[in-house]
Amino acid sequence: MKNQQTAGAVAASTSEARDLALPVKADLLVTEQKLSRLLDSNEALIGEICHYLVDGGGKRLRPLFILLVYRACGGVSEKIEDAIDAAIALELIHSATLLHDDIIDGGLLRRGKPSAFARYGFAPSLVAGDFLFCRAFELCGRFEERLVRTAAQACIQLTEGEVMEGRMRHNAAATIDDYIAVITRKTASLFAAGGKVAADLAGADAKTITAMETLGLAIGLAFQMIDDLLDVLGPEEKIGKPVGSDLRAGIISLPVVLGVQHNTEFARNFRAGTRLEGADFDHALQLMRDPVMIARGRALATAQVARARDLLAQLKPSIYRDSLAALIDDQIDRED
Ligand code: IPE
Ligand code: IPE
Ligand code: MG
Ligand code: MG
Repeated sequence: MKNQQTAGAVAASTSEARDLALPVKADLLVTEQKLSRLLDSNEALIGEICHYLVDGGGKRLRPLFILLVYRACGGVSEKIEDAIDAAIALELIHSATLLHDDIIDGGLLRRGKPSAFARYGFAPSLVAGDFLFCRAFELCGRFEERLVRTAAQACIQLTEGEVMEGRMRHNAAATIDDYIAVITRKTASLFAAGGKVAADLAGADAKTITAMETLGLAIGLAFQMIDDLLDVLGPEEKIGKPVGSDLRAGIISLPVVLGVQHNTEFARNFRAGTRLEGADFDHALQLMRDPVMIARGRALATAQVARARDLLAQLKPSIYRDSLAALIDDQIDRED
């Protein structure tokens, strides 16, 4: 681990647990193979776009999280197919949101390559995103109603989060609470649903299911907070997206909200409500990179990581729990 152990009684993962995916490697491989098959369509263009995005990289953080939670909650190998299908469904939903998000944000670079939106255009990317959402529900429609409902509610929150974020663009009065409300919906809801469904599929009790849902929420919040910091810190080669995209689009990302609250010069620039360009953009980006501001942002993410770590103490010790601990800690130090 690169960072120090945070709060909680769970032992920090050791350097030999560095490949934190190791305990679920075989499950991840099956996930990857089945995911790939589900991208095929009778319409060649849809399949091409889906493969272009999904085969083009991605950390597969959500499948890893689900499989680790399933195993850490005592999920048995005999029913692993259920957990794998849930993991695939979440990655399909995530992929769909990326296609739609790049349309909404005008994102031209994704995973270090031209985005599907840049390469195939608006309508094909839109339809391919819809296709992926439907594939996810086709796959998991066989699950108990409460599980399908959980996934559907996460999708509803994703859409509402995107619209809420759009409504708050260039809003220099945005607060941390507004920001948390947006990222809870647009990002953390999917992790929360993943934790809940994985624990449920593993046969965990109600208290553990709720704990894993809350843990997913916390890890999702920390993940998006660090993503927002990386957006201003870059570099583009690592993050696979242009540096400062959120600022350029007027999105109330974490450094923007901290900037409007703590730096009057930045607040004035942001309030202008127009797209920052050239020297103005470079200057605003510099203000956001202020180490004090970055440290503030990291502290907020670290608090979520500590919350997630505390919840882990409710699970029995296992190699899966150790990996989950490492995965949680990793959110602070990640560079891509
Ligand atoms: C990107 O998510 C979208 C956000 C929620 C910030 P990831 O960083 O998990 O994307 P990939 O799948 O690894 O490309
Ligand atoms: C992340 O959106 C949440 C999604 C629903 C995809 P962002 O706009 O913050 O993510 P990036 O920066 O494009 O990856
Ligand atoms: Mg967006
Ligand atoms: Mg975006």
